[in-house]
Amino acid sequence: MAGLIPQSFIDDLLHRTDIVEVIDKRVSLKKQGNNHTACCPFHEEKTPSFSVNQDRQFYYCFGCGAGGNAIGFIMNFDQASFPQAVENLAKDAGLEIPYQESEAQAKKNSQNGLLIEALESANKFYQSQIRHHNNRAAAISYLKGRGLTGKIAQEFGLGYAPPGWANLLTSIGTDGKQQRILLKAGLIIEKPQNKTQTKNQSQTAEQQYYDRFRDRIMFPIRDSRGRTVAFGGRVLSDEKPKYLNSPETPVFRKGSELYGLYESKKSGEKHDKLILVEGYMDVIALAQMEIRNAVATLGTATNSTHLTRMFRQVPEVIFCFDGDKAGNAAAWRALENTLPLMEDGRQVKFLFLPAGADPDTHVRSIGKEAFLGEVNSATPLEDFFFNKLTQDLDIGSIEGKARLSNLAKKYIQKIPTGIYAKLMLNRLADLLGVSVDSLDQLFNGKPLLDSTRSNSVLESLNDKNIINNLSSAGGNRQGFIGKAEELKGYRKPASLKAIELLLRNPEIALSITKDLKPLHAAEDEGRKLLVALIEMVRNNPKTDTFSMLGYCYATKLGGRLTKLLDSEKITPVEGLEKEFLQIIDNILSDVTQKLELVRLKTELRQKVYPHSRNSI
Ligand code: GTP
Ligand code: MN
Repeated sequence: MAGLIPQSFIDDLLHRTDIVEVIDKRVSLKKQGNNHTACCPFHEEKTPSFSVNQDRQFYYCFGCGAGGNAIGFIMNFDQASFPQAVENLAKDAGLEIPYQESEAQAKKNSQNGLLIEALESANKFYQSQIRHHNNRAAAISYLKGRGLTGKIAQEFGLGYAPPGWANLLTSIGTDGKQQRILLKAGLIIEKPQNKTQTKNQSQTAEQQYYDRFRDRIMFPIRDSRGRTVAFGGRVLSDEKPKYLNSPETPVFRKGSELYGLYESKKSGEKHDKLILVEGYMDVIALAQMEIRNAVATLGTATNSTHLTRMFRQVPEVIFCFDGDKAGNAAAWRALENTLPLMEDGRQVKFLFLPAGADPDTHVRSIGKEAFLGEVNSATPLEDFFFNKLTQDLDIGSIEGKARLSNLAKKYIQKIPTGIYAKLMLNRLADLLGVSVDSLDQLFNGKPLLDSTRSNSVLESLNDKNIINNLSSAGGNRQGFIGKAEELKGYRKPASLKAIELLLRNPEIALSITKDLKPLHAAEDEGRKLLVALIEMVRNNPKTDTFSMLGYCYATKLGGRLTKLLDSEKITPVEGLEKEFLQIIDNILSDVTQKLELVRLKTELRQKVYPHSRNSI
C-alpha cells in the first residue's frame, strides 16, 4: 500500500489541472458560451445535457445529476478509486505523488512489498510451468476441456503448479530470508517437526518446508490494483479438496477480496452492473462468453465489504444463485446483508439458475444473449423480499397480516432512511391494506420519514435529484416514481447543512470562535467531515471549494456530495456566516448535552451500584 496523499498535493494538482482538458481526452467536448458540452458519458442520451464549466472547474449533467470536479470525473469515468484517480491525474500532469508514510507504515509497507514481490514471482513461476513443464499437456487439456481459450487463460493469468513437494520452494526460496517470505505469503508450509525442533542450520530447505500448491491449476487472485495477493488452486481431477486457497496473510483478507474485479475493470468495458457469482470458474466462463462484469467472493458469504466495494464501481448488483434450496437460503442471507446498504440510487437483483446449474454451465448451455436477458429480467430485491415473506402466510387473514408486519418490520428498519425505505414501507402498507402513516406509527421507535442517519441524508439535500435518480434507475422502480413525488418532510442533519454552507463560502470557517474539541470524538460521518473541512480552512485560509470537494471524495460521504453541485448551489452567498455559526453552536450544545447525560448516568450508577466500575 502506498502512503497517504498529502492534501496540499491534491490542491496543487487540482489547480494545475484543467478539467476541460481532462474530460476532452475522454469525451469529445463542444464549446458553447462559457461551457463545454457533450452527450453525458454516464447515461444514455441523444441530446447533450452534460456540461463542463471551465471557470469553476466542475462538470454537471442536467440529465442524470452526475457532477463533480476533475478527480470525481476520473473516479466515475475510469471507474477508479480516489487514490487511483489522483494517480491518473498526476500522471497526466507529469507530477509524482509525494506519498506520506509514517515510520511504522513504511516498515509494514516494505514488508508487504516483499510479500507481493514473492507472490508475483510465484505467479510467473506457475505461468511458466503451464508452458514448459513436462506435465503441461494435462493442464492445458484440462483448461481446453472447460472451454477456455489461451487468450482468456492468459488474461486471468492462469498457471500450473506442477506435482512435487519443492518446485516453488527451490526455484524462488533460494535462501533463508526468501523462504521466510514465502512462508508468510502462504506459498510454502513449514513441516511440523521443524516447528518444534530447535533450528538446525544444516537443514536443507526441503527438510524444513514444502510447497502448498501441488499439481493444481493456479488462479492468481489480484487486488484492485492488479497485484497478485493470493492464489486459488484447483485439482485437475475429482480429488478432494477441489480447491485450495492461500491462507489469510498481511496482504490477503479473504473476506474482502472479489475475484475478477480487477480483470473486469481491465477489460476496458464500462459497466453499470456487476454480476456476483460463486466460483472462480464462473467468472472465467462468463468472461470467455464475453460477459466481462462477473465477480466472485472467495468461498465466503457475501458481506458488506464486498457489497460496498461493488457499489463503489456500479449502482446495480445482480446476485447469481443456484435455484435450489441452498441457493435460496444463500440469497436470503445476501439480502439481509444488503439491506443496510440500500441507499437511494442503488439496485440489487437476484438471478436464480436452474437447480444443479452454475453460471459456468448455464451460460454455455443458453448462450450469451439469453444469459444477459435473464440478468436483465432478474428478480428485484423488493420482489424477492415480499415473495419470500408472504410465501407461507395467508395475508388475507388478520393473523397473517400481523405476522407479515412483524416480520417485515425488522428488515425494513435496517434500510437506510430514504426513498428506498419509504417505498418498501409503501409496498408493505399496500399488502396490509393500511395507510403508510399508521404503519409508520406502528413501527415507531424509528420513524422512517425522518432523516437522521448520516449515510442517506445527503440524498435529501436535493429532492429533485432524488426523483431524477429514481427515474433514471428505471426498470422495476418505475412504479415508485409517482409515489416519490409525494414525499415531503425531509430533515437534513445540521452537520450536512453546515457542510453545504462551508462549501459555498469556505472562509466562514475562520469566524468560528468556539472550541471545537468536543466534536473531535464525533463518530457520525457528517460531523467528522465537517470538522475535517473546518480544519482544512483553518490550516490554509486559501482553501477553496474545489480542494474541499477533493477531500470530500475520499470520505464515506464521498461521491454523493456531487449532488450539491447544482450550479446555483455552489455560488458564494452573502450572509451565510450567521446561519453557519448558529448551526455549529447547535451541534456543540448537542454534543455537550450528550456528554453531560453520559456523565450523569455514570454518576447515578455509581451512587446506586458503588462497586460497579462500568459506566452505563
Ligand atoms: P468448478 O466449476 O468445479 O471448477 O468450480 P466452481 O468455480 O464452479 O466452484 P464451486 O461453485 O464448486 O465453488 C465455489 C467456490 O467455493 C470456489 O470458486 C472456491 O472459491 C470455493 N470452493 C469450492 N470448493 C472448495 C474446496 O474444496 N475448498 C475450498 N477452500 N474452497 C472451495
Ligand atoms: Mn462450476
